Amino acid sequence: MATFEVCSELYAETDFSTTDATNGNSISKFTFVYPKENEKTKRQNGCSVEEEGNKLDFNGYGLNGVDDQSNGLQTDVQKLSSEKSVILAELEDKPSIETDKDGDLIVERKKKGVIEIEHLKSTKLDLVGLQIWRGALLLADYILHNEKKFKNKKILELGSGVGLTSIVSSFYAREVLCTDIDVGGLLQLIQANILRNSSLKNPNCNVVVTELNFKVPYVNYPDALKAQLQDVEYVIAADVIYDDNITEAFVMTLENLLLELPKLKGIYIALEKRYVFTLEDMDSVAPSYEHFLRVFYRRNNRFGITRWKLMQIPLNFPRYFEYEKIKDLVLLKISN
Ligand SMILES: C[S@@+](CC[C@H](N)C(=O)[O-])C[C@H]1O[C@@H](n2cnc3c(N)ncnc32)[C@H](O)[C@@H]1O
Repeated sequence: MATFEVCSELYAETDFSTTDATNGNSISKFTFVYPKENEKTKRQNGCSVEEEGNKLDFNGYGLNGVDDQSNGLQTDVQKLSSEKSVILAELEDKPSIETDKDGDLIVERKKKGVIEIEHLKSTKLDLVGLQIWRGALLLADYILHNEKKFKNKKILELGSGVGLTSIVSSFYAREVLCTDIDVGGLLQLIQANILRNSSLKNPNCNVVVTELNFKVPYVNYPDALKAQLQDVEYVIAADVIYDDNITEAFVMTLENLLLELPKLKGIYIALEKRYVFTLEDMDSVAPSYEHFLRVFYRRNNRFGITRWKLMQIPLNFPRYFEYEKIKDLVLLKISN
């Protein structure tokens, strides 16, 4: 593993009111607005929510970063796939825009919540899970926007990092299995972050933190983990595509889960395409993302049969968290 220090771009672009913890880590506050449905849920759960008086766009902080993906037609996934496997962008849960009789937007006062996360500000490449990355917030936005889909479901998060997306999943899910590798005290930190935010979770939701290493094949998983996986309905993963070896192991894990999980309805993968200019290509390319698409395509198309659907989901849902929803963000769905 390389020894240079890496730092998530998130901290430089948004103020998360970061403070120093006594152990040298940082504690940041990730503010979000509750979607309408969730405001109701919070009131039913008896939790208090902060009143927000600012004027907001649509359902949340806004729709910035929406680009031509919202048409859902010319996607990278399509460009890199054969004609045989037709891939359709999923158009789901379009934001509803309400206007008054004059055609002006009806803007409501929104309720805010805050997730407090202990993390590091920079790490070596093998400890990037101790930081928080943009994909986590994109996936969290998607989950917030799709309460009905995730309500009372069992969700498995892969490569959870410090746990923010699992914490958001716990607002709705009946069970969250939050997993990563056990390096640098990561699993302990996730556990502490889940505890720190326990007042936000659906009181009926059980959150379990455990190790799941992409490099370990399913047959070698401990029996307890295999048992835990049997009733998983959704798998989520954010920003786990950045290193070719890890990506290959990640794709093997996806293949194993698609074959072994009888109740699996879909896998959602959020990522930031990281562009580099190469002399070989004489162009800007996103090598990690392209490597993922190639490896997945190879495993998905065996003996001339396409086994699973890979779709790119339009990012035309509101932004509930505060971050830059840049154009290089991608949300994929894999399903049977
Ligand atoms: C860039 S971080 C993303 C963390 C978090 N999902 C986020 O978006 O903030 C990549 C994550 O992949 C995890 N990871 C790396 N190698 C892994 C492996 N072999 N098995 C499982 N997870 C791994 C890291 O520990 C880290 O949590």
